[in-house]
Amino acid sequence: MEKITVITSGKGGAGKSTITAGLGAALAARGKRVLLIDGDAGLGSLDHMLGIAERRVFDIADVVSGTADPDKAVYVSAFSPNLFLLPAPETEEDVISPDIMRELVGILSKYYDHVLIDSPAGVGQGFLSACAPAKRALLVATPDPVCLRDTMQTHLRLLEAGITQQRLIVNRFHCATFRAQGYYPDLDAVIDAAGVRLIGVIPDDPQLAAAGANARPAPEKSPGGMALARLAARLEGVKVPLPPLHKF
Ligand SMILES: Nc1ncnc2c1ncn2[C@@H]1O[C@H](COP(=O)(O)OP(=O)(O)OP(=O)(O)O)[C@@H](O)[C@H]1O
Ligand SMILES: [Mg+2]
Repeated sequence: MEKITVITSGKGGAGKSTITAGLGAALAARGKRVLLIDGDAGLGSLDHMLGIAERRVFDIADVVSGTADPDKAVYVSAFSPNLFLLPAPETEEDVISPDIMRELVGILSKYYDHVLIDSPAGVGQGFLSACAPAKRALLVATPDPVCLRDTMQTHLRLLEAGITQQRLIVNRFHCATFRAQGYYPDLDAVIDAAGVRLIGVIPDDPQLAAAGANARPAPEKSPGGMALARLAARLEGVKVPLPPLHKF
């Protein structure tokens, strides 16, 4: 099983960071040691979502410059002893090069069961660096034509970067809204528009948004929390069926 995964999207704001934090917590709840790497130089958000913002002193740029050893810049999350974060550089200028990312993450990954890299929006240098160490990609998209068109573009960029193992996460899904919008007749049409096989559907869930904002894990029994637990199981190769869409 591949352990280094980049979480990316075409459009910004699709839910990459929310899903990176939530999926990381769900994998940790399965007893796995999980390292999250925030690849969003200058705009990192995982330190806040994981309750580390107040404690953080060092970040990935300090490790690369030799200012801090990796064990000083990797922080344990506030809510799980198995969930760790290497924060993003504080400024965009400090974005790490793809070659250095590949080398650093290759070394760090030996100490974890999973490494999830939260990619920045867009397909620039930060995206290429976030992708460089990864063996597989999760593409986060909301089920609308603008987002899915960008997802298809990102899918092609990932192929160019040599990542053939790609899966789609449809985020913020709400069945009644999906039907009322009428952009697509069903989920198969969404998958076709993205051009990527589906691995999970995450509901639009205010508890998920609140969890990120308040540095808490998503409640286990919330719709978002349960969807993330199913996603974590599938990522580990467990076959978990998709609930009927009207449940979303
Ligand atoms: N499933 C969801 N249900 C409800 N709100 C969500 C969900 N997923 C994401 N959000 C909300 O959408 C907003 C954007 O999410 P997030 O920051 O995770 O996106 P992103 O893709 O990381 O953005 P960026 O491209 O800027 O890095 C946040 O306010 C978040 O709380
Ligand atoms: Mg983000």
